[in-house]
Amino acid sequence: MSPDRSRLHIALQKSGRLADQSRQLLKAAGLKLSEAGKNHLTARAENFPLDLMFVRDDDIPTFVADGVCELGIVGQNVLEEYALGQQGRRFEEVARLGFGRCSLKIAAPDSLNFFNVAMLAGQRIATSYPHLLERFLAERGISAEIVTMRGAVELAPRLGIARFICDLVSTGATLEANGLAPVADVFDSEAVLVRTSKPIDA
Ligand code: PRP
Ligand code: ZN
Repeated sequence: MSPDRSRLHIALQKSGRLADQSRQLLKAAGLKLSEAGKNHLTARAENFPLDLMFVRDDDIPTFVADGVCELGIVGQNVLEEYALGQQGRRFEEVARLGFGRCSLKIAAPDSLNFFNVAMLAGQRIATSYPHLLERFLAERGISAEIVTMRGAVELAPRLGIARFICDLVSTGATLEANGLAPVADVFDSEAVLVRTSKPIDA
């Protein structure tokens, strides 16, 4: 089914670190949004031909690349991970939005009192960002085993799944609560507005 081309469609994170500020940005831009109930996955702008689609952040690059949504608000971390996996990007960054700042970092148990990236060689590293981590390691000529997890990556060292992790850090509270400390920066990110670069057929 192709979307109604008389309206624009913007993909937003349903819940999570970008959700509230993405919606606030659209309101501050003057859009009157029909209040979507908690379980509604769409909302309409009442004074502009725009529909909002609330989805998982990881799905936003796909929707925008395919042109199902002409626009999206998503973290650069999610976009870059997607682009590396797809070997190309079919979206353009329109603007950096100045919120949702976070950083993809390698972290180690805080009992480790010395770190050098060369120490990653031959180690297992758990992450939800295998492509970004793979690039980081390749650029440094390091060969390590990447263990891909969908979430709860911070548990991996305690469970003995991996010695190191590579995960998003914002306040650092999650790392701290799990006895981990950041040791290297992989990718800095903030929320961006993206538009599809796929030609839109009428
Ligand atoms: C990230 C990451 C950490 C947490 C770090 O998850 O996986 O668990 O945020 O934030 P902190 O440094 O402020 O404690 P996110 O909220 O992006 O959820 P998701 O991975 O399920 O999208
Ligand atoms: Zn996510």
